[in-house]
Amino acid sequence: MSEWTFPKGDLMKGKKGLVMGVANDRSIAWGIAQQLAAQGAEIAFTYQGEALERRVRPLVESIGMSKMIPADVSNDADMDSAFERLASEFGSIDFLVHAIAFAGKEELQGSFVGNTTREGFRRAMDISVFSFVDAARRASALMTDGGAMVTLTYLGAERVVPSYNVMGVAKAGLEAATRYAARDLGPRGIRVNAISAGPMRTLAMAGIRGGKQLMSTGRDWSLLKEDTSMEGVAGCALYLLSPLGRSITGEVVHVDAGFHVVGVPDMQEP
Ligand SMILES: NC(=O)c1ccc[n+]([C@@H]2O[C@H](COP(=O)([O-])OP(=O)(O)OC[C@H]3O[C@@H](n4cnc5c(N)ncnc54)[C@H](O)[C@@H]3O)[C@@H](O)[C@H]2O)c1
Repeated sequence: MSEWTFPKGDLMKGKKGLVMGVANDRSIAWGIAQQLAAQGAEIAFTYQGEALERRVRPLVESIGMSKMIPADVSNDADMDSAFERLASEFGSIDFLVHAIAFAGKEELQGSFVGNTTREGFRRAMDISVFSFVDAARRASALMTDGGAMVTLTYLGAERVVPSYNVMGVAKAGLEAATRYAARDLGPRGIRVNAISAGPMRTLAMAGIRGGKQLMSTGRDWSLLKEDTSMEGVAGCALYLLSPLGRSITGEVVHVDAGFHVVGVPDMQEP
């Protein structure tokens, strides 16, 4: 079990919402869920399918929650029934966390131009970008009294990162989708933001060729000289989803120990 600790409080007391994307106890969605629960939120979870239930259920129960709904985001019928269940169990909701992405292993290595197939491109966009647009539409229908949404992105959307390839293009789409959704939903008091997290040791990271090196470079070149922490990412999600984040929307917040501002890494003294 993970060793993170999250500050307790009442910032999310009385707030209900959905967290999508817990696969195991290293998932970013799981860190965020624990932080939101520690601040009083009531949370329902969607997970990728029955195969993951054995791993996800004990986590959900460990924070006193029980609402778990299987949903493959590439399947409309799954999404229909997931949001119907959410509506019947929660009525209205206040927040959405989307922490879902996928690209084939073969696409996450080597040449972007050489390895990106039409099907691989379509799948990466569908699961990593459209799923957020789709979830935002469905979740916003349940946000009858305003609300807030957060998705997870990575620097590969803005800069070239080896092996990230089609996922970088997908994340660029996701960041643009964040801004367009923020525009649509703003007049209803619904804020939409993205967190650009530095490299973290999760299942998704394990799928990227050279992931270990991305982690060590992310730490060694960062301004803080440390790994991106789950506490930092979850704390940012809490800030964006709670009243603390009032007036912030359409934003991409970097939580990466300052890596994204580095132009040239530290040099040996001449
Ligand atoms: N780990 C990192 O270094 C890092 C950095 C920045 C951003 N992110 C992003 O954070 C998010 C969460 O990833 P993570 O690192 O926690 O890894 P993770 O593997 O724990 O989470 C990815 C989740 O996506 C889900 N998923 C994939 N395809 C799906 C589908 N068809 N239907 C439903 N769910 C599906 C998986 O079940 C899993 O729960 C992703 O968007 C990822 O790109 C990760």
